[in-house]
Amino acid sequence: MKNILTIDNLHASVHDKEIIKGLNLTINSGEVHVIMGPNGAGKSTLSSCILSNKQYVKTAGRITFCGEDITHATTDVIARKGVFLSHQLPEEIEGISVFNFLKTAKSKIDGKNVYSTDFRKELMPIMSSLDMSESVLDRDLNVSFSGGEKKKCEILQLMALRPTLAILDEADSGLDTDAVKAVSKGIEMFRGEDNALLIITHSMKLLQHIPATHVHVFIDGKIVKSGDSRLAEQIDMRGYEGYKGENG
Ligand SMILES: Nc1ncnc2c1ncn2[C@@H]1O[C@H](COP(=O)(O)OP(=O)(O)OP(=O)(O)O)[C@@H](O)[C@H]1O
Ligand SMILES: [Mg+2]
Repeated sequence: MKNILTIDNLHASVHDKEIIKGLNLTINSGEVHVIMGPNGAGKSTLSSCILSNKQYVKTAGRITFCGEDITHATTDVIARKGVFLSHQLPEEIEGISVFNFLKTAKSKIDGKNVYSTDFRKELMPIMSSLDMSESVLDRDLNVSFSGGEKKKCEILQLMALRPTLAILDEADSGLDTDAVKAVSKGIEMFRGEDNALLIITHSMKLLQHIPATHVHVFIDGKIVKSGDSRLAEQIDMRGYEGYKGENG
């Protein structure tokens, strides 16, 4: 077992307003961590902070990835080291096709040339497992994709880039039943003993297919309770009311 991510007493702000308020989290290889918390608690902000999104200022604390301090590393460096973020609201980027985006990302991360014909062949089984048409590769990234198509495109990136840590911010939102199954299958194909997942979600949909090893309740900028998959079931049934007082 190897340490993948350690977050130690992280504080982060946006426009001088503190959003992350002393967060601690340790993720080891082979683990699937789930974060659940009310709207506006700061879950997406946390994922942006791990990737050093410049909108957020880390005012205290430390983040290490595979033993290296990445607290103040830039996003491209962190991504190249093997951290991947599937966005809650994927950006539409005109003028860059899905294929060129994936190919460029792959070659930057692997540090070597990627050959188009080989890479296309590599992507075919992944796309078919996600029930995506090959023609998606030639469309501009996320432009006019449906909500579900955008989410699938994020999972296509995950499967093609094979990071060490995958952070999935609401990868299940807006997916129909078949798409949830396809996306879960993709995540399961990625999951292994050498990598780890951090899944942010409001629902049990993905968790019915992917076994969570750790579940955390995230309220007002920090984790107030951690447990196993039974904790997710409790939250699904009872909500967060009982936890709101626990954030001292
Ligand atoms: N760039 C920003 N500018 C201003 N406020 C921001 C910014 N980013 C986040 N916030 C605020 O920080 C708080 C936390 O937002 P965040 O998106 O992290 O919540 P969340 O837990 O992911 O919620 P949800 O479950 O709805 O996705 C919210 O009040 C949000 O309005
Ligand atoms: Mg969010």
